[in-house]
Amino acid sequence: GPDIAVGNVTAHLQALSDIAAANGGNRAHGTSGHNASVDYVKGKLDAAGYTTQKVAFTYNGKTGYNLIADLPGGDTTNTVMVGGHLDGVSSGPGINDNGSGSAAILEVALRLAASGETPTKHVRFAWWGAEELGLIGSTRYVQGLTTTQRSQIDSYYNFDMVASPNPGYFLYDGDNSDGTGSGPGPTGSAQLEQVLGDYFTGIGVPTRGTDFDGRSDYGPFIQYGIPAGGTFTGAESRKTAAQVQLWGGTTTAHDPCYHSSCDTMANLSTTALDRNADAIAHAVWTVAQVGDVTPPP
Ligand code: PHE
Ligand code: CA
Ligand code: ZN
Ligand code: ZN
Ligand code: ZN
Repeated sequence: GPDIAVGNVTAHLQALSDIAAANGGNRAHGTSGHNASVDYVKGKLDAAGYTTQKVAFTYNGKTGYNLIADLPGGDTTNTVMVGGHLDGVSSGPGINDNGSGSAAILEVALRLAASGETPTKHVRFAWWGAEELGLIGSTRYVQGLTTTQRSQIDSYYNFDMVASPNPGYFLYDGDNSDGTGSGPGPTGSAQLEQVLGDYFTGIGVPTRGTDFDGRSDYGPFIQYGIPAGGTFTGAESRKTAAQVQLWGGTTTAHDPCYHSSCDTMANLSTTALDRNADAIAHAVWTVAQVGDVTPPP
């Protein structure tokens, strides 16, 4: 896959920061800040040639949206989905959580369209609403599909918090290599983890597993047995001494501004953002079989 220019990703993040500032300081479910965030991402995707749907739903008496974007072409009976939540908490602008994942997958989507390649598999991106209120948008989406439609989703990659300022390099533990927690993901999740792992091995950055603990939008996908994967740089938990040995940083929270007003443009590791954006591109190009890359095993 291509080397994603991190400056393009931070430009999307700056746009989301500006949107929060112009809309009461946040991008939470049911607010003008969330609506404007969806419109920003949709505008970029429409201009690039995606087929987009802004799908409204009601939760807690307020309107939220899922944004679904299909790249025309590819085998729709073998669909690769890539998603992250575009809503934030009400206490701040939500730049790492989850402007980061939203902006990274947006830039990968734009780069994919610009490549002019038609992947063998169909590629669909999603920006979920109301994740912060309990994975509401992604759950509505997966539950709203027919059994046949669900069976056509080969894999789901999730990106929620990929630029934590004191980053870890975590991969959803599809193979349960650490032997703990929630066990492996649905069959196929191990390969999705391996594809991301191959990227980080190639740049010499060690990774660790993180359990499918149900805290992000892969939840409803794995509930229906859809293979899932993704990266995560850590939230409120403290980086351990062993993790500092591995990755540098300090034995403080991965994201000290998690769900706070200080989750701003200053609350980012651009190194982690760059590595994760490149890893996402590698995974999409590999799993969807873009160009003459070797298909995954
Ligand atoms: N989904 C959590 C949030 O948005 C963050 C998180 C992501 C926690 C992934 C654990 C794993 O607040
Ligand atoms: Ca890069
Ligand atoms: Zn959050
Ligand atoms: Zn999040
Ligand atoms: Zn693993």
